[in-house]
Amino acid sequence: MKIAFVGKGGSGKTTLSSLFVRHLAARGVPVTAVDADINQHLGVALGLTEEEAAACPPLGGRLPLIKDYLRGENPRILSSETMIKTTPPGAGSRLLRLSEENPVFDACATEVPLDKGAARLLVTGPFTADDLGVACYHSKTGAVELCLNHLVDGRDEYLVVDMTAGSDSFASGLFTRFDMTFLVAEPTRKGVSVYRQYREYARDYGVALRVVGNKARDPEDVAFLREEIGDDLLVTFGHSDWVRAMERGQRRPFAALDADDARALGAMHRAADAGYPLRDWERYTQQMVHFHLKNAASWGNDRTGADLAAQVDPGFVLREAPSPLPA
Ligand SMILES: Nc1ncnc2c1ncn2[C@@H]1O[C@H](COP(=O)(O)OP(=O)(O)O)[C@@H](O)[C@H]1O
Ligand SMILES: [Mg+2]
Repeated sequence: MKIAFVGKGGSGKTTLSSLFVRHLAARGVPVTAVDADINQHLGVALGLTEEEAAACPPLGGRLPLIKDYLRGENPRILSSETMIKTTPPGAGSRLLRLSEENPVFDACATEVPLDKGAARLLVTGPFTADDLGVACYHSKTGAVELCLNHLVDGRDEYLVVDMTAGSDSFASGLFTRFDMTFLVAEPTRKGVSVYRQYREYARDYGVALRVVGNKARDPEDVAFLREEIGDDLLVTFGHSDWVRAMERGQRRPFAALDADDARALGAMHRAADAGYPLRDWERYTQQMVHFHLKNAASWGNDRTGADLAAQVDPGFVLREAPSPLPA
């Protein structure tokens, strides 16, 4: 199951994604956390020291390796140089499974021990001044999009991505790659307006979107969110003493999380799980082709000097791998 946390900066994406990752790990659910936010804080929120977090190998720095591996023997992709972030898999491509060892995870993943269970962490790497200019952030989140387009994930395994909700997300297909998108909104007009904008894009592409309210101070805050957001509002987190203690560098066991917050995480887990039967691999594949053709025409063909539309394998549908038969 692929889950995104989006929202405006400071709304609590990193905090809530890290709590959701801890919740899953504590239940024994295999979980891969991906930090794709401009401000790379997920590692620290999961308990790494600043030094450990800074030592995580960035996906953005391993793009040639990732492309070469995923390209495999796909005859439609002539070289890793002509593989762009939206290049879809086809016959001969290598697919990624969360439960296996592969060169991508070997090169980029960091195992993060949690007080209950553990998580695998992937990071895009910090955004430099160059990324923020002409090239936008896409070169960094491009590695995530490529991996998602080659990922065949199953029912009880989770990939949780902490990402921004800037309008840049919509230029690429990244925002359509998730079984559930949790939009974190503070009870403010700004928080609600980010939700409204996201909802427009989400609706056009059939993206499952639920709002997670955060930093509600009183019942009036909750009522405001309920009034503005309606049924899309799934749960609301208040001010968390557990989070504040973490911020002061005081580690508390996850079991000491406020009961209301633990319940809210359970509701998010159930909402995400309920998306499983709704997954549609054909639509998922069609959408990646749609965004690939768009990106090829708008910059990819020029940038690579190749006709990238020819990379599309018309007969290919990404599918969840059947569980291996018992021996
Ligand atoms: N529910 C909460 N209770 C207390 N503090 C919170 C809560 N959610 C977020 N924060 C604090 O708000 C700040 C911004 O949160 P963060 O998760 O980094 O936001 P984002 O990733 O969206 O930029 C951090 O200092 C974080 O500890
Ligand atoms: Mg963040």
